[in-house]
Amino acid sequence: MKLYQVPNYEAARLKAAGLIAAQINVKPDSVIAWPTGGTPVGVYEHLAALYNRGELDFSGITSFNLDEYCGLADDAPQSYHYFMDEQLFSKVNTAKDRQFFPDQNAVDINQACQDYDAKIAAYGGLDLAFLGIGVNGHIGFNEPDTVFSAGTRCVPLTESTIQANARFFDNADEVPRDAVTMGIKTIMSAKKIILVANGPAKREIMEQALCGPITPDVPASILQVHPDVTVIWSHA
Ligand code: F6R
Repeated sequence: MKLYQVPNYEAARLKAAGLIAAQINVKPDSVIAWPTGGTPVGVYEHLAALYNRGELDFSGITSFNLDEYCGLADDAPQSYHYFMDEQLFSKVNTAKDRQFFPDQNAVDINQACQDYDAKIAAYGGLDLAFLGIGVNGHIGFNEPDTVFSAGTRCVPLTESTIQANARFFDNADEVPRDAVTMGIKTIMSAKKIILVANGPAKREIMEQALCGPITPDVPASILQVHPDVTVIWSHA
């Protein structure tokens, strides 16, 4: 594991964007898993700036988002489809027909989740999974007491995640109770992983994830056994 401890969010987002840009420059047809939430916003902003300066070309990449809330329409303002379009896809030249999300509204959601993993495999597997981390140690929406061997699936959200994500909704009651998420097995199959953690609220769980036992109670702790993980961590 490579660990960059950086002084603040500004340094974190530039470091992460630089590493992601390098991945795309070295392998223009990279298959990339993207997170949503507060942490990646500044990273996406810098990636878009690199594109605008003509320093980065997204046309060859394929995107698979990590997760999506169940029950929201793709164009609902709180959906992760909408977030990705707002924060990154509409600002760069990713091919629209290679922007994939787990199907949160599929009639047969289990089949749709299996199909998502099969599609990732058909595209040659993930070259890079870019991750944030929840205050409870989740990656994607793999909540504590997770199953390390699970592929993409539908999961209930914990109260901690509902409260943490209420800031993106009018109130906590509006946060969907379930989500579809890439499983830990899917994430761990990525050739390279970059995790960004920012702010004092993440400090305790980061200490557990990086230095504590590898346990389903702290889903991110499984990253300790991945062969190519880069962690960018700012306490400020
Ligand atoms: C969302 C995702 C989550 C977030 C995590 C941290 O797509 O994958 O694991 O990365 O909840 O969210 P923020 O960055 O808002 O603290």
